[in-house]
Amino acid sequence: MDITKIMENEYKAADTASETNPQYKFKLLQITFKVIVLIILDTIKFFTRFFQTHQQPDKIANQLALVTGGGNGLGKALCYRLAREKCDLAIVDIDYNAAQRTANEISVEFNVKCKAYQCDISNNLAILKLKDDIESEMRSVDILVNNAGLLYVTNFMTSKIDEIQKTIQVNLTSHIMMTRTFLNRMIERQNGRILTICSLASLFTAPTLTVYCATKTGLKGFMDCLSDELYLNNYHKFIRLTSIYPDFINTRQEVSDTLDQMKHFLPRLTPEKVADEAVRGMLRKKQNVVVSELKSVFSSLKYLPKNVKKYVVTKVLNFDSFYKQD
Ligand SMILES: NC(=O)c1ccc[n+]([C@@H]2O[C@H](COP(=O)([O-])OP(=O)(O)OC[C@H]3O[C@@H](n4cnc5c(N)ncnc54)[C@H](O)[C@@H]3O)[C@@H](O)[C@H]2O)c1
Repeated sequence: MDITKIMENEYKAADTASETNPQYKFKLLQITFKVIVLIILDTIKFFTRFFQTHQQPDKIANQLALVTGGGNGLGKALCYRLAREKCDLAIVDIDYNAAQRTANEISVEFNVKCKAYQCDISNNLAILKLKDDIESEMRSVDILVNNAGLLYVTNFMTSKIDEIQKTIQVNLTSHIMMTRTFLNRMIERQNGRILTICSLASLFTAPTLTVYCATKTGLKGFMDCLSDELYLNNYHKFIRLTSIYPDFINTRQEVSDTLDQMKHFLPRLTPEKVADEAVRGMLRKKQNVVVSELKSVFSSLKYLPKNVKKYVVTKVLNFDSFYKQD
């Protein structure tokens, strides 16, 4: 079905009279048996991999890492952490001066190749040009770090349409497009890693973060499905995916001010700690890495009765302070 031509073809309703296979019970039994065998095999594989990954982290020296939003905040810390692993870097940011600053600082401190690229990753054509530029000026990308993101905290009912659209474009669509653009070459070269910065907001929900949560939950869904698709195609042997779920990080002053405004008393992470756990998780082939002092508190929120959740979200985390401003 060509979804771009949905209005050109006449709608045809599905045939509702299709027969039920009379042997479906036998088929179900066969499937159940196969599933049990696969579970046993997978459990054995899981434990074998668990011991392997805890012994030997991968080496990524001399590989080329592309970091989006590498000019500031967590992206900059990720560039430093990857440089410590001796990776060359393509530092991509909409803010060219910031990307250039990171590239200069890293070039002085580490013996790696570093180049800054200006690119608005919410623009598909700009992403295609970025790929051509990096491949001609440096080489093919081995590690794609999808980091750039916008934090959008507001009362959804009074939120601005263009801010909603921008949040979706930068936090979700751009990561899908970056992955679509750089993954094919990784598959051709049978080598690649994709490290994506999701958020604790992918795992729990909070008012005033409604659109942000939607993008980060979408990103988690994208990475989980992509992992399944790579597995089905046997690409998982040489393409590794890692998703990171950090708590609040002390990066941009406005984020810090927002948390102060909310009288948020919970500990904030440093970008360096998150970058370190992200890269270590990637090198140990972990698919998911939660970085939070309070991960069990946040993970349990969705299982709490509505009233208890409301108390925690409003009185403890103070998310309702934004409603009080409106
Ligand atoms: N700060 C937090 O509390 C926190 C918590 C969890 C997850 N995260 C996630 O971590 C990632 C990094 O966040 P941060 O706090 O370092 O943000 P930041 O605002 O400090 O830095 C983001 C960088 O991305 C760049 N950028 C923004 N839009 C871009 C675009 N369209 N194209 C290219 N570059 C663009 C900015 O110029 C900036 O350099 C984001 O995905 C964010 O959602 C942040």
